[in-house]
Amino acid sequence: MSSSPDPTVDTTAEEFTDVDDVLARFGEHGYLADQRLATTVFLQSRLAKPLLLEGPAGVGKTQLALSLAEVTGRKLLRLQCYEGQDESKALYEWDYGKQLLYTQMLREKIHDIVDDTDTLADAVERIAAQDDVFFSERFLAPRPLLQAIDSDEPVVLLVDEVDRADEALEALLLELLSEYQISIPEIGTKRAEQLPYVVLTSNNTRDLSAALKRRCLHLFLDYPTPERELDIVHSKQTGLQESVAQRLVEVVRGLRDLDLRKAPSISETIDWARTLAVLGVNELRADVLADTLGVVVKYERDLARAGAALPRLVDPNAVVPEEAHGHGHGHGHGHDHHEGDDPSADGVARRRTKDQPGRHDEAYYKGGPPAPKSVPTGQGGRSFAAGKPRKRPF
Ligand SMILES: Nc1ncnc2c1ncn2[C@@H]1O[C@H](COP(=O)(O)OP(=O)(O)OP(=O)(O)O)[C@@H](O)[C@H]1O
Ligand SMILES: [Mg+2]
Repeated sequence: MSSSPDPTVDTTAEEFTDVDDVLARFGEHGYLADQRLATTVFLQSRLAKPLLLEGPAGVGKTQLALSLAEVTGRKLLRLQCYEGQDESKALYEWDYGKQLLYTQMLREKIHDIVDDTDTLADAVERIAAQDDVFFSERFLAPRPLLQAIDSDEPVVLLVDEVDRADEALEALLLELLSEYQISIPEIGTKRAEQLPYVVLTSNNTRDLSAALKRRCLHLFLDYPTPERELDIVHSKQTGLQESVAQRLVEVVRGLRDLDLRKAPSISETIDWARTLAVLGVNELRADVLADTLGVVVKYERDLARAGAALPRLVDPNAVVPEEAHGHGHGHGHGHDHHEGDDPSADGVARRRTKDQPGRHDEAYYKGGPPAPKSVPTGQGGRSFAAGKPRKRPF
């Protein structure tokens, strides 16, 4: 760990030859990326920059890092962030038990050191002179961030759900993200000899600092296009007929456009397809979907809203009460949806009022404005951008 690598020097160019190589290799490992995502991963490998993935739940943020490790054959080191987490769980801590064991085994030696001192103060001075021995690498217990820097092999470091960590931990990350180094006061600065691929994910429960964002390549992962979602479902070999899966993807997209608290994600589409396959469904009917709605919709009020919209989503000609009417895809409503569109302003405002002060606030269920009739822009953008309860004060 003596030499200091230049983070701008590409030591991993051989990992991916080009963007198509990223697409193909991720595909081989069951992760279907789109062009934008593959381009960002390719750039990450060439520019040796951390990648920050933001987006709604279940769109493949964490899976991207897992797949990156599989595809490149690198070991995965994962730091799962949570509120109140401190640096001893993220960076390193001193192995207190080992230090204690050593002091007991070396009792006599320690006795020799303080033997000829007269006062307590002198004895403390003598022992303090031995600090270096006990605060050396031997007694250091590295946690994921330090492990990633210290590894002899290049690794993938996943810092998952970084928005859940406190701002203090976020600040600690800055040195690692820009310099690929960690400073340990008692030992000095440790620099990575093998630059890790660093992937950070965020669900946007609070705003991340500009300093962190500036150090990363940033990508907003939205819900996929219907074609890609169908490909993903297909790749998971759910057992559901292709034509039924195609309709199912449309229905799920319709559900995402309802004003649900938790919109169904890709993993829920996959679960629903598996469920329907197990039930031997070969024709999508509203009643079968209603019976299995719990697979994709997780809140009671969402269930009612989604259940009421199902007949229309399955059959656009079905007559449904106006209150439950949401906004469907590809059923004659005439709106185009694209990955990465800006969120709808009225959808954002409506959800923000409901989601205050936290995204799990039960006040959401105690009334509130009716569902929007239509939302013309990106699904994930709207769902994701709504409700940012832990905004920075600056
Ligand atoms: N592009 C993709 N290709 C293949 N499978 C995918 C893709 N995106 C998502 N999935 C599937 O969706 C599942 C959920 O993805 P993942 O756990 O990565 O979501 P996430 O964005 O990290 O969600 P959360 O914010 O809740 O942690 C994955 O395990 C995988 O099966
Ligand atoms: Mg995740």
